[in-house]
Amino acid sequence: MALLTLADFETEAEARLPPAIFAYLAGGAGDERSLRANTAAWARIGLMPRHLRPVAGGSAAVSLLGQRLAFPALVAPMAFQRLACPEGERGMARAAAAQGIGMVLSCQTSVAPEALATIPGPRWFQLYLRPDWSETRALAARALAAGASVLVVTVDAPLNGLRDREQRAGFALPADVRPVMLDALPPAPPLPEGESLVFDRLMALAPGWQDLARLCAESPVPVLAKGVLCPADAQVAVAAGCAGVIVSNHGGRVLDDTPAPASVLSAIRAALPDRPVLVDGGIRRGGDIFKALALGADAVLLGRPALWGLAVGGAAGASQVLRRLRDEFEVTMALCGCATRAEIGPDRLVLPAGSQ
Ligand code: FNR
Repeated sequence: MALLTLADFETEAEARLPPAIFAYLAGGAGDERSLRANTAAWARIGLMPRHLRPVAGGSAAVSLLGQRLAFPALVAPMAFQRLACPEGERGMARAAAAQGIGMVLSCQTSVAPEALATIPGPRWFQLYLRPDWSETRALAARALAAGASVLVVTVDAPLNGLRDREQRAGFALPADVRPVMLDALPPAPPLPEGESLVFDRLMALAPGWQDLARLCAESPVPVLAKGVLCPADAQVAVAAGCAGVIVSNHGGRVLDDTPAPASVLSAIRAALPDRPVLVDGGIRRGGDIFKALALGADAVLLGRPALWGLAVGGAAGASQVLRRLRDEFEVTMALCGCATRAEIGPDRLVLPAGSQ
C-alpha cells in the first residue's frame, strides 16, 4: 500500500521500529492526555472556505527572522534521531533542505552539528540552559560555529517528564546512539545519599530568566523561548531579550494536562502582537498549519511525523512527509481563497463553541 498521509507513516514506523524505541519516540507524559489533546484541539477547529476568489500566482512561502521558508514550517528539535535511522539528524537536515524549510537541531543531537554544516539551512539550534554558565556558552558557541542562525532555548523541561509508556516498554538508549554534544561537557556529580533528585539537585541548580537574559545579551543571533503556554511568560521572555516565542507543551512529553498549544495560541499572539510566535504540538495535516497561521502563528514546528518519515525511508521518507504537508497546506490555502499568508486570518476559521 502506498504511504500518503502522516498517519500512514506513523503506522508503518510502528510496524518497523523495535517497540521500546517506538515507545520513546511516540510517547507522552503520564496518561498522555496532553498528547491526545494536542491533535484533538486542531481537529476541533473548522475551516470556512471562500469561493471563486483569485488565488492564481499565490505562494505558501513566508519569510521569518529574515529567512525564507517554502512553506511556514520547520522540523522541531528532537533528540537522538539515529534511533529512527542510521543517518539520523543528517538525514533530517537533508529532508528539510530538499523541501526548502528549516530544521531546529536539538542539543541532544546524535550527530555532531559540524556534520550538518554543508547542508543548506535555515538551521536553528535548540539548547537547554545549563546550571554552569560556561557550559551554556560552550553549547551556543559550538552551534553558532556550525552555522546556527537562531538559538531556541527550551524553558519547559528543566527536568525530564515521567513517560509511563516509555518506562513500561523498558526503553534504554542503545550504546551506539549518544548525545554527542552533551558528552563533550563534564559529567554531573553523583547525587548525595537521601537527597531529592528533583528539589535538591535538578531544581536547586535550575537556571532562571536572568540566565536566559544573559544568553540573549550575548547572542549574535535572535533567541526564541520554546515551551511557553502562559501569555505572562511570553511577555517575560521578550522582556528578557527574546525575539519571540514558540508555543509548545513539548509534544505532551513533560507534564501531562498542560493545555493544547492550539488552545492558547491566540492569547499569546494577543500578548505579543508584533513578535515572532511559532507553535508546535499535534500538527498532523496541512490544514493544521493553516489553522495555526489563522490564529496568529508565523510558522509551525513539526515533531513526530518527521521521525516517522525518517524511520520508514531515511531522508527520502522524511522529505516525503514534509512534501505531503506542504501539498495539503497549499490545497487548504487555495480552497479557503487565500493566495498568500497575509490573507490567512481568523475569518477563515470556525472555532468550537465557547472558545471565542
Ligand atoms: C522532542 N521534543 C524536544 N524538544 C526540545 O526542545 N528538545 C529536545 O531535545 C526534544 N526532544 C524530543 C524528542 C522526541 C522523540 C520528541 C517526539 C519530541 C519536543 C519537540 O521539539 C516538539 O515540541 C514536539 O515534538 C511537537 O509535538 P508533535 O509534533 O510531536 O506532536
